Amino acid sequence: MTAPILRRLCDLRAKTAEWRRKGETIGLVPTMGALHAGHMSLVEAAKAACDRVIVTIFVNPRQFNNPEDLANYPRTENEDAEKLAPYGVDLIYVPDPDQIYPDGYATNVSVGGSITAVMEGPFRPGHFDGVATVVAKLFLQTSADKAFFGQKDYQQLMVVTRMARDLDIPIEVIGCETVRESSGLAMSSRNLRLSEEALTKAAALNAAMREAAAKASAGESWAPLEAAARQTLAEAGFGDVEYFDLRCSETLEALDTPSRPARLLAAAWMDGIRLIDNIAVSKLNS
Ligand code: PAF
Repeated sequence: MTAPILRRLCDLRAKTAEWRRKGETIGLVPTMGALHAGHMSLVEAAKAACDRVIVTIFVNPRQFNNPEDLANYPRTENEDAEKLAPYGVDLIYVPDPDQIYPDGYATNVSVGGSITAVMEGPFRPGHFDGVATVVAKLFLQTSADKAFFGQKDYQQLMVVTRMARDLDIPIEVIGCETVRESSGLAMSSRNLRLSEEALTKAAALNAAMREAAAKASAGESWAPLEAAARQTLAEAGFGDVEYFDLRCSETLEALDTPSRPARLLAAAWMDGIRLIDNIAVSKLNS
């Protein structure tokens, strides 16, 4: 059976109040729809950890720095509700736009510091403000105890964790493993917009990342590894590689070797679609 879809905040609050009265815990999976197996893994994690699970679907205009990307973002509400049916989600919140940004809305949540100063921050101006603002609203509207995010958007996970801590929102933010296609390509709603051929070529991103990560783990320094990966990606048919960085997992400071827990994070364009991915990198024998 498909879960009930609520579109108004008052209806959502009535439901969560009922659950709270019974002492039930609430898990939140925020999404922009076009659900895939990556989202379903978040739903499963939420189901395992909480009595009730809310999935939200809201294509948040404030986090799109590119109007074309917003216009082309897949909107598949009926299919999404059907995909969620076997998972026993308690409700799907698809807020009408005025439930998030009512007339006269004037508040922006902006996370500063080193975690937003690099990578997605400069490449997508305003993106993290949009994400932090809508996620703060969804945390408060659902009053969830735990929220589940994919590690694929590693920087986003850091931003929403920081935001919840800084604003004392009583919620635990949980990062879940990236789900991948058998080719290694990280699952993403944007993959829906890739042709079969581009999907095949796109697998080169994760392959190049794994190769560079293995060499960095073995002690090779980053600059030549990054240069070689950029070359490989160009040959595989990628357009602009916006970043291909080795960074500290906690501060996102750039590293030359994985001398502390590190991540390799990359963003690159394939056939007009911007893809991002990241993987953990550790020093061999450490
Ligand atoms: O990762 C996403 O799908 C979105 O950025 C999120 C967290 C649902 C906020 O709109």
